[in-house]
Amino acid sequence: MEVVIVPDAKAGGELIAEAMAALVRRKPDALLGVATGSTPLPIYEALAAKVAAGAVDASRARICQLDEYVGLPVGHPESYRSVVLREVVEPLGLSEASFMGPDGSAEDVQAACEAYDKALAEAGGVDLQLLGIGTDGHIGFNEPCSSLASRTRIKTLTEQTRVDNARFFDGDIEQVPHHVITQGIGTILEARHLVLLATGEGKADAVAATVEGPVASVVPASALQLHPHATVVVDEAAASKLKLADYFRHTYANKPSWQGL
Ligand code: PGA
Repeated sequence: MEVVIVPDAKAGGELIAEAMAALVRRKPDALLGVATGSTPLPIYEALAAKVAAGAVDASRARICQLDEYVGLPVGHPESYRSVVLREVVEPLGLSEASFMGPDGSAEDVQAACEAYDKALAEAGGVDLQLLGIGTDGHIGFNEPCSSLASRTRIKTLTEQTRVDNARFFDGDIEQVPHHVITQGIGTILEARHLVLLATGEGKADAVAATVEGPVASVVPASALQLHPHATVVVDEAAASKLKLADYFRHTYANKPSWQGL
């Protein structure tokens, strides 16, 4: 995998936004898989700025969701559908019609999961999937010990993830749903390019295990090692536990190794 160490979150956001813009210039109707959480916000801001400045025409881009809470009322501001509409779809000037995600309010959750995997395949597959990483090494909501071959399905959140996400629910862990739908690791690995952004010291252990540890379901993000085109963008703090940091700096920093994005 490519490991690109950037000075800070803003630089990471800019770098990835430019990669997404390059993809959309090459393939105007690219299917962009987006992630929620705090980390990707600088990406969305930088990409929206490029669209506003006319540096890229994203009007035909399509957006798809990585995961979703189960059981939140339709339209709940913290449902990931609402979050992605607010943070990505609207700022890019796209319509809701360009956006697809799993139905977290479906009565038959399993059927909704299968329908989403099918819809992604019918849409031609994801061109670029953005990923964050949990402090426990999760990607999407694939918590530790998720099958590396898993498909989109219902999962139970760990206590750690519910604690981490309580900040989006007025700091009240009781409001954080226990269950989610997430693209499986096998589903995620089908995207043509995976781009994981991690910033801050709190992610340093998870990043080190992902990049330098063995491929193991206990660190779901380590599955990126199995992907032929995976890029991990980390700020200095998140890179602080990488033994090979200097090698990565030497190899990837400021180099156009991102060609073909
Ligand atoms: P964060 O979440 O970006 O808010 O840290 C990442 C994740 O849980 O995947």
